Amino acid sequence: MCGIVGYIGNREAYPILIKGLQRLEYRGYDSAGVAMIDKNGSLNVFKKKGKVAELVAFAKENNTSGNIGVGHTRWATHGEPNDVNSHPHYSQSKNLVMIHNGIIENYAAIKENLIKRGHNFLSQTDTEVLVHLIEEIQLHEKCKLSVAVQTALNQIIGAYAIVVLDKNDPNVLVAAKKGSPMVIGIGEDDFFIASDASPIIEYTKNVVYLEDEQVASLRRGEQLKIRNLKDKEITPFIQELTLELESIEKGGYDHFMLKEIYEQPRSVLDSMRGRLNASTGEIKLGGVEDHRKKFEKAKRIIFVACGTSWHACLVGEYLFEEMGRIPVEVEYASEFRYRNPVIYEDDIVIAISQSGETADTLAAIELAKSKGALVLGICNVVGSTIARATHGGSYTHAGPEIGVASTKAFTAQITVLTLMALELAKVRGTLAESRFRQLLYEVEAIPTKIEEVLKLNDKIKEIAYQYKDSTNALYLGRGVSFPVALEGALKLKEISYIHAEGYPAAEMKHGPIALIDDEMPVFVIATKGANYEKVVSNIQEVKARKGKIIAVVTAGDKDVKKVADYAIEIPETDELLVPLVAVVPWQLLSYHIAVMRGCNVDQPRNLAKSVTVE
Ligand code: AGP
Ligand code: GLU
Repeated sequence: MCGIVGYIGNREAYPILIKGLQRLEYRGYDSAGVAMIDKNGSLNVFKKKGKVAELVAFAKENNTSGNIGVGHTRWATHGEPNDVNSHPHYSQSKNLVMIHNGIIENYAAIKENLIKRGHNFLSQTDTEVLVHLIEEIQLHEKCKLSVAVQTALNQIIGAYAIVVLDKNDPNVLVAAKKGSPMVIGIGEDDFFIASDASPIIEYTKNVVYLEDEQVASLRRGEQLKIRNLKDKEITPFIQELTLELESIEKGGYDHFMLKEIYEQPRSVLDSMRGRLNASTGEIKLGGVEDHRKKFEKAKRIIFVACGTSWHACLVGEYLFEEMGRIPVEVEYASEFRYRNPVIYEDDIVIAISQSGETADTLAAIELAKSKGALVLGICNVVGSTIARATHGGSYTHAGPEIGVASTKAFTAQITVLTLMALELAKVRGTLAESRFRQLLYEVEAIPTKIEEVLKLNDKIKEIAYQYKDSTNALYLGRGVSFPVALEGALKLKEISYIHAEGYPAAEMKHGPIALIDDEMPVFVIATKGANYEKVVSNIQEVKARKGKIIAVVTAGDKDVKKVADYAIEIPETDELLVPLVAVVPWQLLSYHIAVMRGCNVDQPRNLAKSVTVE
């Protein structure tokens, strides 16, 4: 996720680009950059690590004139946030510049081929490879820029929203998208491009939402032209914007949290991009491959994290032990760092953190490193402190998570943990090939299954209405769904301020059942699996004491539906992957209850998005 903007017309481009980037800064803010062509034909590029304000200060006193230009705020995926990895990126000759939102999965192979053809690269990004490829085609085929872009994109695997500027043709911007968003604004005699409509709405309400695998040519004085990658001409469908500005920044959702819940099919897909191929049985996660020997010989894995990330570690424990047959411990980072733990040199410590800045997790990492263990990170922010403090690891690629309550980061963490566990099993030979392949297919199907659950939003909202005035709540789950019970309880607590506790379903008999009465809603994950019958018994124990049961069940379930007050049916999936799908109803439930209670969903009281203090 990041922000892209473009302008071509009769006005000064720079102020429009900067204001547009400021409106998009919520989408990612590792670095920012702009490129303009002035009236003498000079191509001027200014780009810098940090926020847009730092770019403005950096470009001050420089020549930022010109009525054509592009701008970018970066959310790094390949190459840490620094000046050289900032966008726009140059082609080999420096006649083209390009900005990009997304991930080019096959950039490494293309880069290798271009290096053989004499290209040299300045950055570590995937983006720079694409603009070099476009120019290589443009020069070799002696074709128009838009044709070179079409040809190049036919070789690309991944997600992109790109805008290309050609110093030798300052009357056209070429844009294209697949998987990442792009809106084109149609002005009186100018064009605007942006990741969403927020930078455009103050200039025009007439927009075209470019669709996947479409290439647009925005030429001064001409109508907008669109062709798809098969070179078929597409008639632009011009719509009139109705959304207000503030609503656009949230993608039309009322809150960032809801937007991020709905982004999960995309963010889970992004966390897999370029890392697995079920049909060929390939799986490659840098964090494991770079330390293959260590994983082969490791006697123990220790997970350290806080909050929701700690819940992801608990899911990881089930996955790593089940697939990799290796002992796993899960530690609260805040406890681990102070209790003088026993750590061996052949231990592997894995730290999980969305922000990559959590003080307790960072301290746990330093302790583990001091004892000689290999320390890996699973972070969402590229180049964050934790990402740089560990010996290696894997990014979750979930895009910026703005809502304080973590949602898409959680499912992205579990996706990466699943891939890591699968690769660990492959390295250690602890999973039958048939079971390995079956799990790969099941993982690939998760984004579609999450889509299915999101369609239940209205039903979940009705359930939320029934329980919005509860003072307490219990969440239950067994096996790999027990951590989802903890996560559901945390979500409800932190945004609606209702006291909630998560328990292993069987543990209820050892005390919590005393809490059950007709005022107590009990949220249970009762999907098909090895312990299904036992969970049904736990449900009956609650009903016998007049408790209210709201159950997440596998589509088609009959037994639980007979006794539960509400049953939310989710698509069947492999038992080990249930957390990725079953958590979504609890995310939506806590969101709706919090909204109905008038709580500040995106910034709950007393909380911060990243706890950088101890
Ligand atoms: C989760 O909804 C909370 N915002 C909080 O528990 C969070 O997960 C915890 O502070 C850890 O943050 P991190 O993943 O950025 O390290
Ligand atoms: N993958 C590109 C990079 O890491 C673009 C990331 C983004 O969407 O900002 O630079």
